[in-house]
Amino acid sequence: MEKINAVITGVGGYVPEYVLNNEELSRMVDTNDEWIMTRIGIKERRILNEEGLGTSYMARKAVKQLLEKTGTDPEEIECLIMATTTPDMPIPSTASIVVGRTGLKNAFCVDLNAACCGFLYAMDMGASMIQSGRYKKIIVCGGDKLSSIVDYNDRATCPIFGDGVGAVLVEGTTEDLGWKDSYLRADGKGLPYLCLKGGGSACPASYFTIDHNMHKIHQEGRTVYKYAVTSMSDSCALIAERNNLNKDNITWVLPHQANVRIIEAVANRLEMPMDKVMLNIQRYGNTSAGTIPLALWDYEKQLRKGDNIILTAFGGGFTWGAAYMKWGYDGNK
Ligand code: UT7
Repeated sequence: MEKINAVITGVGGYVPEYVLNNEELSRMVDTNDEWIMTRIGIKERRILNEEGLGTSYMARKAVKQLLEKTGTDPEEIECLIMATTTPDMPIPSTASIVVGRTGLKNAFCVDLNAACCGFLYAMDMGASMIQSGRYKKIIVCGGDKLSSIVDYNDRATCPIFGDGVGAVLVEGTTEDLGWKDSYLRADGKGLPYLCLKGGGSACPASYFTIDHNMHKIHQEGRTVYKYAVTSMSDSCALIAERNNLNKDNITWVLPHQANVRIIEAVANRLEMPMDKVMLNIQRYGNTSAGTIPLALWDYEKQLRKGDNIILTAFGGGFTWGAAYMKWGYDGNK
């Protein structure tokens, strides 16, 4: 039997309309455009500010666009994996809300929480399902409504994060394309440095958790930064080496968008010029599991069949890794 490869055959995305720029942010906390641009590289981020809307709202917009762009009948989709750290609510899963609102009548679905590494993890699992031959068409979504858990009094974290969701269609092919290799890890060391302590089973929501600001992200930026640079660079180097990839045959590097200085360090390690690195952090900030699919959404027009792409991410846990994929089609669908 011929080997089945798992390839992305379309991309959809959604970012909310409201733009929170550095100017407005500097009226909320003691910061300024120059600091944010030099230290992080973000000019503005999108915020979902309509009452009552959560991550599923953005995901269903992204999925609907994906189905339309690719001319896919929703009933053909067999599974939807939703990578997110900001589910609409603990029960039911955000994935089930998305499935219900997009007419995916024949799909099972699941939420996956691997923080900013979520999309990479979800793609690896989704690709394995397709490669097994048991599934023909699945959707992998990634994204977050980080504005729901950001403390807008904390100048060290609030400039970083934004809201948005991307979605990709994954199908089988016998061509030499698609998801080729991955290296994914987690170590639990990140708990003190990047967490949100309240509202889970260890500390359910209470007056205490609210009084102690435990429903907002806590991040020790400097420590996270150091781990991120090392883990992402090492994973990329490993993936490049074992697939005989180098600066001459890598077409694009697609890094998680957390800080432009982290991205430059990764590019530097691979000896890749920055014009070969997908970058949209300046417009969306860090959308956690959304950064990678949203970058594919933004760059889709420029991608060509056979492009060698190295993807990499790092997030809470810590979770991290890199993957190699060969792009499946030319330009916009
Ligand atoms: O996506 C998942 C993983 N997350 C990441 O990858 C994030 C990794 N970390 C980072 O990107 C960076 O550490 C930050 C962007 C969070 C912070 O940048 P930094 O260069 O590490 O700054 P710092 O925390 O070391 O702070 C340097 C100075 C401090 O002042 P002093 O103590 O040197 O006087 C901060 O108080 O910058 C100050 N500062 C700010 N100043 C103006 C911190 N935040 C701000 C701000 N505006 N927004």
